[in-house]
Amino acid sequence: MFDKISPAKTLYLGLTFIFCAFITIQCTTEQPNNDSSASQQEAQKAKEDTPELADAMGQLQTYLHKYALAVEAKNHELATFYFHEVRASSEGIKENIPGYEGYDIERFMTMMFDPAVEPVEKALANKNWDEVRQKTIDLVDSCNSCHNATAHGFVKIKPGFNNNPFNQDFSAPE
Ligand code: HEC
Repeated sequence: MFDKISPAKTLYLGLTFIFCAFITIQCTTEQPNNDSSASQQEAQKAKEDTPELADAMGQLQTYLHKYALAVEAKNHELATFYFHEVRASSEGIKENIPGYEGYDIERFMTMMFDPAVEPVEKALANKNWDEVRQKTIDLVDSCNSCHNATAHGFVKIKPGFNNNPFNQDFSAPE
């Protein structure tokens, strides 16, 4: 009976066997690949969810500069507004990017930057503009100290009091 199997049937059975073997190999070899590409995707997503420190620093720089231009114009309301944003940005960095490239950003921020914040706020509250300028220069020094401490000393910040590149009028209301 077996010898009555036609060559076509043999070919068909043979092909079916090869196909099944092929599928089995595909499934077993692709399994780990799928897993690793899934974990790669997760790692990629975690990376996207962590904000870039450079972006956050750029935001800090913009608010600091706008604050300095409002100080230059002795516009108390605007300066107070922007300094609040400077403070909020630095708090946000501590919370969202506590570590970066092996540096303890949260600790550096707390040690170097935070002590320079309150003197500015105090001088600003008293509308003592000379003091405000001096304390702002101290604050900018603390930005640069931290850049030096984190191998980014080439990013040199200036107060930028009289250097307005913004499409915004900083003058105090009459
Ligand atoms: C905790 C330490 C620390 C403090 C404090 C700090 N920085 Fe930075 N800053 C860094 C590090 C680290 C980088 C490099 C980030 C990177 O490589 O992505 C950086 C990068 C920058 C950059 C380059 C990114 C860009 O957008 O051009 C600017 C500008 C900057 N900081 C501004 C400031 C200003 C302004 C202050 C103060 C108001 C400040 N930083 C305070 C650590 C600090």
